[in-house]
Amino acid sequence: MNKQTTLRDLYLEHKKGKVSSKWESYFTIYERHLEGLRLKRLNMVEIGVQNGGSLDLWSQYFPFAQICGIDVDHRVSKLVYETNRISVLVGAASSKEVISKVQANFPNGLDIVIDDGSHRSKDTVYNFVNYFHLLKPGGLFIVEDMHAGYWHEFGGGINEPLSCIGFFKNLIDLINIEHSRDTFNLDDLFGKYFPQGVKPVCLKTQSIAAITAYNSVFIIEKASDRLAPKLGSVVIVGSEAIVNDKVSPEVVRAP
Ligand SMILES: C[S@@+](CC[C@H](N)C(=O)[O-])C[C@H]1O[C@@H](n2cnc3c(N)ncnc32)[C@H](O)[C@@H]1O
Repeated sequence: MNKQTTLRDLYLEHKKGKVSSKWESYFTIYERHLEGLRLKRLNMVEIGVQNGGSLDLWSQYFPFAQICGIDVDHRVSKLVYETNRISVLVGAASSKEVISKVQANFPNGLDIVIDDGSHRSKDTVYNFVNYFHLLKPGGLFIVEDMHAGYWHEFGGGINEPLSCIGFFKNLIDLINIEHSRDTFNLDDLFGKYFPQGVKPVCLKTQSIAAITAYNSVFIIEKASDRLAPKLGSVVIVGSEAIVNDKVSPEVVRAP
């Protein structure tokens, strides 16, 4: 593989074979987050296969990855791939059967999950809670087409109580909850999304390192040693503090 071939180039050169469509801006976003992972032996899931072209292109972009596509449309079972690095599961992504098969196929966990499924807010929230906890530390959960999160016909909307947009905004509070001086807890943030009372394991403090929101693409990174979710201790360096001597090495020393 030519290491310089970007995802955009792979897409633009893909004139024959299975169809895939992506918004143009996604290529820059993907390159920014995924370029450094290209030669790793990744375990990857893409929710939403349709014509199957994206699985083909991901397998070229990640030449050592095992890639599993999931689609509720049974016609995806007809898709045939030249590489055994690609597999396809038929069923709803958040069904128990499909989740169990993914866990069985990837007992060591996942590195990347892309949700390009229905884009209905409820599915988006449930796919996140059902797959984020299967990620390895540092793994990425990527949601495409978040613009649908603003659309009422997809269960979304800025003020829609159960929209996935609101859910992901709450993840910002989850990341920073240790600093809140208001009295609220995780149930206040997420309880309404799970009225049956089940508390998803990933929605606990210090499980998420970062959430990056682009136009229509959200990327949520699982906490790891490399990117810990803790604020840590304050690091003060230098020896002169002529404006505010409370900020000086005498007060708090760098470790
Ligand atoms: C936008 S298409 C996927 C396109 C593909 N990822 C690509 O880039 O070419 C969305 C697909 O998600 C599938 N889908 C919808 N709801 C789903 C669900 N709950 N679980 C799994 N797949 C679903 C649809 O059947 C459809 O084929």
